[in-house]
Amino acid sequence: MVRERGEIVVLMDIDKFDKRPLVVSMVGLCGSGKSTLAKKLSRKLNASVFTIGHFRDDVYDKCSKGAEYPKQAQIGEVSNRDKQLIELRAWLGFWEMLLDKLCLGQNVIIDTSGLNKRLTNWLEDISWNVAKVIKVKLVCPRSVLGIRLRSRKQKQKGFFPYDFDGHEGFNKELSKHLREERANITVDTGRLDKEETYKKVMKDLKRYGV
Ligand SMILES: Nc1ncnc2c1ncn2[C@@H]1O[C@H](COP(=O)(O)OP(=O)(O)OP(=O)(O)O)[C@@H](O)[C@H]1O
Ligand SMILES: [Mg+2]
Repeated sequence: MVRERGEIVVLMDIDKFDKRPLVVSMVGLCGSGKSTLAKKLSRKLNASVFTIGHFRDDVYDKCSKGAEYPKQAQIGEVSNRDKQLIELRAWLGFWEMLLDKLCLGQNVIIDTSGLNKRLTNWLEDISWNVAKVIKVKLVCPRSVLGIRLRSRKQKQKGFFPYDFDGHEGFNKELSKHLREERANITVDTGRLDKEETYKKVMKDLKRYGV
């Protein structure tokens, strides 16, 4: 490691470079097929799937039961400060558990929108020596996403700290950011069905030595 103007510049361990565990990070709007693909890939790559929503729900649950700070979190009464604290705690838990897997040399798949700034920065950090990071972006026309979301039998629930107007509101707000987000592999799930999507991603992953 070299320190430069107060910043730590990490050098690569070339000898260990190819032995890094794999992190496949999904990038995509709601309904684009991230969870569907993540599940299929997890079996093939023997990887655990990480979803930030599970961590949010876990922290929120503990807070509502008074088992963790901020203790007062109650449905419909969560202040903005508490929302932010829950969100920060959720990401801390997410990273800690994910890092544990990587330290054991295990592969991981991240099933989130991939548009969170903290996540992007952290993925860049670990890509030096800790993990081989591959971003898979799933694009899809918003009209198709809308149809998929409306036909969902089970509406997705759980604690969500942001004020978007449902999943479609989230997609509307973040579609610009999605266009700007770079990825190693991009698939249009509006054109390719689930099986074709999986096959294309597996084929492209081979190019990255997976
Ligand atoms: N490649 C695909 N082609 C067509 N339909 C798909 C494809 N992938 C997933 N789907 C369907 O689209 C719907 C949404 O898929 P999925 O739940 O995997 O999306 P998601 O990106 O995880 O959404 P969210 O962000 O809300 O969790 C499901 O009904 C799924 O069966
Ligand atoms: Mg999902």
